[in-house]
Amino acid sequence: MARVKTTFVCQSCGATTGQWAGRCDSCGEWNSIVEEMADTGVGAGPKSAKAAGRPTQLVALSGETEDALRIPSGMEELDRVTGGGFVKGSAVLVGGDPGIGKSTLLLQAATALAEAGGNVIYVSGEEAVAQVRLRAQRLGVGGAEVKLASETNVETILATLEQAEKPDLVIIDSIQTLWTDRVDSAPGTVTQVRTSAQAMTRFAKKSGAAVVLVGHVTKDGQIAGPRVVEHMVDAVLYFEGDASHTFRILRGVKNRYGATDEIGVFEMTQLGLRQVANPSALFLDQRDTSAAGSAVFAGMEGTRPVLVEIQALVAPSPLGTPRRAVVGWDSARLSMVLAVLETRCGVRIGGNDIYLNVAGGLKIGEPAADLAVAAALISSLTDSPLPADAVYFGEISLSGGVRPVVHAALRLREAGKLGFETAYTGRLNSADKKSDLAVQEYTQLTELVGRIAASGRRPANEASAD
Ligand code: TYD
Ligand code: MG
Repeated sequence: MARVKTTFVCQSCGATTGQWAGRCDSCGEWNSIVEEMADTGVGAGPKSAKAAGRPTQLVALSGETEDALRIPSGMEELDRVTGGGFVKGSAVLVGGDPGIGKSTLLLQAATALAEAGGNVIYVSGEEAVAQVRLRAQRLGVGGAEVKLASETNVETILATLEQAEKPDLVIIDSIQTLWTDRVDSAPGTVTQVRTSAQAMTRFAKKSGAAVVLVGHVTKDGQIAGPRVVEHMVDAVLYFEGDASHTFRILRGVKNRYGATDEIGVFEMTQLGLRQVANPSALFLDQRDTSAAGSAVFAGMEGTRPVLVEIQALVAPSPLGTPRRAVVGWDSARLSMVLAVLETRCGVRIGGNDIYLNVAGGLKIGEPAADLAVAAALISSLTDSPLPADAVYFGEISLSGGVRPVVHAALRLREAGKLGFETAYTGRLNSADKKSDLAVQEYTQLTELVGRIAASGRRPANEASAD
């Protein structure tokens, strides 16, 4: 009997090696390498498919096209992220931490689409039919005509889908529970997840249904992360938020049929996910306007302006190496802002413990937040509360200059809508300046620092530790 060839596959990143190792060379994860059968896995496909030698047809790039047919779910926040609805014949991966609300989101989307007359099939590999029914009843959508199944075998699912009336949307919850007869490895291994995802993607292309795959993201290498299927699917959405907040953010990270920088904002309530049409109002809710160290940043998430509070606490440090803790922003970026404040503006801040927090659990990636962060830091350092009706945005350069950022007009309009009266920012062009807000433009960060420190109860150029 021929020896079965085995390979070793990292369950975290999918890299293969010829021998076992305690640590994956590709991604650095420990204990993630598992032995799997080689010639039954992915990559063995072409040999058995006998495709070799048969030519395919070459066509011109220019030619007749159809617009991608979309199936709007009816949930506006979800449709915004997918670019106007799920595309027929495409596969979408919805990833996120366990318990973040993926099943809830997709069940709500499924029922919304079914109410609008769509044919939706929901296959749960994690919950029994009764559990899904119970959840639907709790969400108040128990009456919707969604077809349910509790199944984990790919061949059974495909056979079921084939004989069912042509579905518009198929939801598979979750990809980690699927297993196929074609592969010997255990369910949940990279090979299983990859092969199952491939089968479902092929079904989407063949049948014209939109297929949504749910994938749990775990740091634990034992369950294969959905990262290995990211390149197979047409769109990847991440559902994020932290357990201590009720906000949930759906973010597109890959989309072959739309933009990837859009977010959808939801709030987890007793009755499931509520769509948040005006996130700024939610993020600014319960803001303490009298405390020093709080600045409102006028940010952009995709095409949508979002106002969010940035909180800083600068406290004397008892440690030789002061503590830096950042939630919701890049800590390297914080170090840069601190260095600029210290070197270019003569502010003695580096010896303090510094805590920075973006309220509401939002993660900000924009450099435009620099100015708001600097304002919050100086406000806390000098014990000088910032005006409650002011917003801040602008990028800080290493030379200490304040640089203008894109979409200033949109940011100003959103701030105006929420009752803000002043904006502190870099130099704007004249078109952007037409705004209801009083705009205070700065070219140098020192000017803003001076202004905030002037009304402070502590000077900025003295270490606050005695
Ligand atoms: P779930 O959708 O099961 O998460 P996932 O599929 O991503 O693992 O959501 C589970 C959490 O959501 C659970 O901790 C309870 C909470 N939840 C609510 O707060 N309200 C609700 O109406 C529902 C259905 C869930
Ligand atoms: Mg779930």
